[in-house]
Amino acid sequence: MNEASKKTILRTIPYGLYVIGVRNEDAFHAFTGSWLSQCSLKPPRVMLGVRHGTHSLEMIEKGKVFSVNFLAKSDKKILEQFFKPTPASGNRFGEVAFHPGKTGAPVLEQATHFLECELKNIFEAGDHSIVIGEVVEAEILKNEAPLVMGDTPWHYGG
Ligand SMILES: Cc1cc2nc3c(=O)[nH]c(=O)nc-3n(C[C@H](O)[C@H](O)[C@H](O)COP(=O)(O)O)c2cc1C
Repeated sequence: MNEASKKTILRTIPYGLYVIGVRNEDAFHAFTGSWLSQCSLKPPRVMLGVRHGTHSLEMIEKGKVFSVNFLAKSDKKILEQFFKPTPASGNRFGEVAFHPGKTGAPVLEQATHFLECELKNIFEAGDHSIVIGEVVEAEILKNEAPLVMGDTPWHYGG
């Protein structure tokens, strides 16, 4: 296999960009995720690829909920903040305001749309796990097209 072609082709798969909010007991956390897709109509479920060894995966396993926050094209900085390492202060959210949603998972005040999911299953996929969540809450907060990977110079994968 041609490694360069494999990388280029895998990177041409269109992806969205989301702040995935997680919660375990009193602890809130979030990370920028892109490997998200719907995977069932009835019941409505989504699948999300989450890297092994991350704090986020551990929190999803324990807390069993996650939120999917879509952001406006003007809020690229927020997505940037959530893929950087957690600051020494330990506060991943910094100035980014959120509230616990119906499931308790953090919902960003700046979100244009959000979903809240309850964990249904986790499958091993290699160096990531596939997290299956059932959509139990969905809200459109702003009638704006969200930022997607193609709007940025970023990549995840290949
Ligand atoms: C553009 C972009 C997309 C990303 N998408 C994902 C993803 O789909 N799944 C994932 O596990 N990490 C993804 N990441 C990496 C996480 O945001 C990053 O590893 C994060 O720091 C994990 O946080 P944690 O270790 O504090 O849980 C992405 C990073 C970037 C830059």
